[in-house]
Amino acid sequence: MPFKITIDSNKESFPADSDETILEAALKHGHSFPYGCRNGACGSCKGKLIEGRIHYQNEMTGISEQEIKEGYALFCQAIPDSDVIIEAQEIDRVGEIAIRKLPCRVTEIEQLSHDVIRLYLKLPKSERLQFLAGQYIDLLLREGKKRSFSLANAPHNDDCLELHIRHYDGGLFSEYAFHELKESTLLRFEGPLGTFFLREDSERPMIMVAGGTGFAPIKGVIEHALHLGDKRPIHFYWGAR
Ligand code: FES
Repeated sequence: MPFKITIDSNKESFPADSDETILEAALKHGHSFPYGCRNGACGSCKGKLIEGRIHYQNEMTGISEQEIKEGYALFCQAIPDSDVIIEAQEIDRVGEIAIRKLPCRVTEIEQLSHDVIRLYLKLPKSERLQFLAGQYIDLLLREGKKRSFSLANAPHNDDCLELHIRHYDGGLFSEYAFHELKESTLLRFEGPLGTFFLREDSERPMIMVAGGTGFAPIKGVIEHALHLGDKRPIHFYWGAR
């Protein structure tokens, strides 16, 4: 039977299974708790345990013994052993998510059409990118140049970042991506960026229009809305050649 996790500040609650972390359960139920590495190292997910029992499965460097004694907890590692009440910060604005520069490795290159490829990018084991559905990243290229690409994956599905790249004749990154880029190549990016994202607390219907690879952020938004069980009507008009 799942345990009940209650956020003290607004008394909202969500269920957590006895084998999932409080962070996993929070994200699954639409609560945007902050996080970074999701493996106990960075401390970004730190909050307070006010009532109830938890245990940790892994060694953690992101919290000190003293902090644990003071009631702090790392929600990315904390597994509930009872109903709990916690103090946690929720992210509801873009500016509350740290913009970071991170390395990533190309794990898969897939040809989607004659002029569009999909890249899957994997972050180092100790890192995860927190973002809102629909945001984008800047790939950092040589000589200080950058190219922006929307994240086509949804935040709940952040094992790899998914980018859709359209070929442009002479395009600085697209020529490279289509003709030279290989799996296992290391890239660097900065993000998340942008204010186009899913307003999770809105009840208004969604009408979205996109052309070509403009499909990418919409894909992330729709997948995330469905994952959250959003019941709003969604209309999506997509133009492609
Ligand atoms: S997200 Fe890094 S310690 Fe929890």
